[in-house]
Amino acid sequence: MVPLKQVALFISCAALGVQAAASSDQLSWDKAYVKAKSVVDQMSIEQMVNLTTGAGWGSQCVGNTRPVDDDLFPVLCLQDGPIGVRLANNVTAGLSGITVAQTFDKAAFRDRGVYMGKEFRGKGINVQLGPCIDPMRSPWAGRLWEAFGEDPYLAGVATSETVQGIQSQDVAATIKHYIGNNQETNRTTSSVVIDDRTLHEVWLYPYARGIEAGSAMVMCSYNMLNGTYACENEYTLTTILRDELGFQGATVADWGATHSTIDSANAGLDLSMPVRIYEGEDDFAKNLTQAVKDGKVKKERLAEMATRVAATYYKLKQDASDFPDGAINSTDPDSAPVVPVQDDHAKIVRDSGAAAVVLLRNEDNVLPLGDSIQKIAIVGSDGGPNPGDINNCTDGACDQGTLAMGYGSGVVTFPYLISPKEGIESAAGDNVEITYTYDDYDLDKAADISKDADVALVFANAIAGEGVDRANLSLWHNGDDLIKAVADANENTVVVIHATGPVLMPWLDHPNIKAILWPGLPGQESGNSLADVLFGKVNPSGRLTYTIAKNEEDYSAHISKEAEFEYDEKLLVGYKWFEAKDIKPLFEFGFGLSYTTFDYSDVKASVDDKEQPKVKATLQVQNTGDVDGAEIPQAYISFPESAGEPPKLLRGFDKVDVKAGKKENVSFEFGKTELSIWDVSQREWIVPSGEYTIHVGASSSDIRTSATFTL
Ligand code: NOJ
Repeated sequence: MVPLKQVALFISCAALGVQAAASSDQLSWDKAYVKAKSVVDQMSIEQMVNLTTGAGWGSQCVGNTRPVDDDLFPVLCLQDGPIGVRLANNVTAGLSGITVAQTFDKAAFRDRGVYMGKEFRGKGINVQLGPCIDPMRSPWAGRLWEAFGEDPYLAGVATSETVQGIQSQDVAATIKHYIGNNQETNRTTSSVVIDDRTLHEVWLYPYARGIEAGSAMVMCSYNMLNGTYACENEYTLTTILRDELGFQGATVADWGATHSTIDSANAGLDLSMPVRIYEGEDDFAKNLTQAVKDGKVKKERLAEMATRVAATYYKLKQDASDFPDGAINSTDPDSAPVVPVQDDHAKIVRDSGAAAVVLLRNEDNVLPLGDSIQKIAIVGSDGGPNPGDINNCTDGACDQGTLAMGYGSGVVTFPYLISPKEGIESAAGDNVEITYTYDDYDLDKAADISKDADVALVFANAIAGEGVDRANLSLWHNGDDLIKAVADANENTVVVIHATGPVLMPWLDHPNIKAILWPGLPGQESGNSLADVLFGKVNPSGRLTYTIAKNEEDYSAHISKEAEFEYDEKLLVGYKWFEAKDIKPLFEFGFGLSYTTFDYSDVKASVDDKEQPKVKATLQVQNTGDVDGAEIPQAYISFPESAGEPPKLLRGFDKVDVKAGKKENVSFEFGKTELSIWDVSQREWIVPSGEYTIHVGASSSDIRTSATFTL
């Protein structure tokens, strides 16, 4: 087995010759402001307005700031998206947010951020429009796959590492979509009603971590929050972002999410982007200029807007002479030159793709596939290549062949896509016979191919994307019947599902389904990552980032078609709902098996500082099997009852490589970030007094050891 921590070693240390290496550290905000101010001081009102009013789709970037004066300040390029460079060639199409989150591995989050940052920088892009960090509220949500799953703490860690990774390469990260943008249905017209405690503890939590990590930009979302559009919402843009969280970067509107000029500017919007959904195409610039002249927006506020935008550029040292020129695409020979930026990023994608695979079931140790396997059946279109061009649907909006990404503005053009069949074929070698059918509807053929194979791998998927929520949680393309047909025919059936989120599993109790693998959306190296796990080169350690329920009704939040709707589950998002209501899911948050087993010693908690606070917990994890593996111990905290929190909250996790038979020490530290709740009346984060319990285990339900401490 390859120790999974090695993933971290495959980060390239130097960019290829075509890319100028990133300059070391970022500038402090203070220094960036000094530079920005000295430039903005020289600008006319019209020039400042141009820096705060975007143009869309005019160049190779999905958005630009408008020209000021080349000698004063350049035009900035803003480009999607959260998983890599959109609409570009010679780039890497890697793991989606929801899938890298399955690694529960900070190093994997960071490595992904770093390589994405390198690619954006290599293409001369100033601002990456990602990561997307909103926790998953409802499994039907079209865009949940762009972000990191249902838990705000996990999303917060992933956000922090991703932002730091991206910005280490001098590219501005944009955390989005702020805030309450958790469904596609009526996304530009509906108002979500969220109480202040829930807003802070659930939906803001990852944003707070992203801002702590230095995110240069925050994108306000399409929807209204409590009756006010997110891009003209003074409470969220100024009171929370700037006053509470100390955000010093720029707020940028989602494309067309600006609904007013004066209100937006005064509320705290710094950069409006076009594709209008309010007035005329150029109205923001025209109106803002006039509003400043009329005194309806103070000139100082305009200067502040321009300064904030400019400061992001200086903070990331994009004024350095070696920051590359824009060269995103090159399909048109007259346009920008070819700039390959992939370096060895495919290796990172392959390794983290394997580390992300969740093993949901493995009866009779049917996996990993050993030397006795001579005949493998592969069934289902999801196991094979796209019958046409891998990129033949605009923004990925079709489900043909294996699914490795969702669709919408968050996609990346595949340079290639290793299908499961290709990955399995190259891992299996010449002595294994592989038969296959990609016909999802010919059940007789599926059974026929499967019946005398040593193992039958049946593939199914469920896609989702931007603009529309899922109609149901069922598998696409006859997946349920196909799985059943294969399981009826072969007693060693392995189900593999590529899905953007949870699916229903009506076939789960079939006795012949011996193993289930959940690789998520692994990107271009899909088949190789999967084969690494199937054949035991990598011992699986991925964990579910959301709850897979028995029934659709079991989930706390469904898509609303109402013009205004309340987040009435309040703090009970995801597994917290299931625990509070005592609903047993099929597979719980944090669940995932390994080819080995682990024991946990008793956890010991000590309070090092009551005031700050600082609490430490230590334990040992022992690999009790006979293969090396990685375990993901997860620390959940139960707050004192008086705090009114859900039964328990994830507040720590680690990925620990443990050799067969050996033990490793694990420790967690909890401070204010982990131990406080939002006090609505005092308007601050407070640490409740009383008895806390720390639970450490292998999933949200599989708690192995607990201890108490008092604050
Ligand atoms: C709309 C999407 O919501 C956002 O995520 C994206 O960055 C912009 N379009 C630009 O494409």
